[in-house]
Amino acid sequence: MTDIDWDELRSAAVEAMEKAYAPYSRYRVGAAALVSDGRIVTGCNVENASYGVGLCAECGLVGNLHMTGGGELVAFVCVNNDGETIMPCGRCRQLLNEFAIPGMLLETVSGIRTIDEVLPDAFGPRDLEAAR
Ligand code: THU
Repeated sequence: MTDIDWDELRSAAVEAMEKAYAPYSRYRVGAAALVSDGRIVTGCNVENASYGVGLCAECGLVGNLHMTGGGELVAFVCVNNDGETIMPCGRCRQLLNEFAIPGMLLETVSGIRTIDEVLPDAFGPRDLEAAR
């Protein structure tokens, strides 16, 4: 998968970031991913007065993925207020892993990485299948 338009994906993430609801941290995040069928899904962080229940941008993104037809994530990027690429937090790497193609690509602060590189030896759906 060498033909990913990272500029297009980053622009979609920036557009999503502009919709963020982050009155508490003032740290707006936008996430965008290319889906296996070619569509792009996005999400923004949505905070809450009960701080701990705030939602990361990736939460919205996976909800959007599922609600708009499902499929698998092929490539992912998330950005901050300044449009700079940031790392998805640990919990969100797990969220992404659930729907990732094997070897899903992420644009990260240290270049293009695979999901396995940023979440090694992940626990995932196959572990549950094996236990059935
Ligand atoms: N945040 C995300 O939306 N995604 C991440 O992967 C990192 C953190 C949000 C959560 C919170 O609203 C704000 O960034 C500051 O932590």
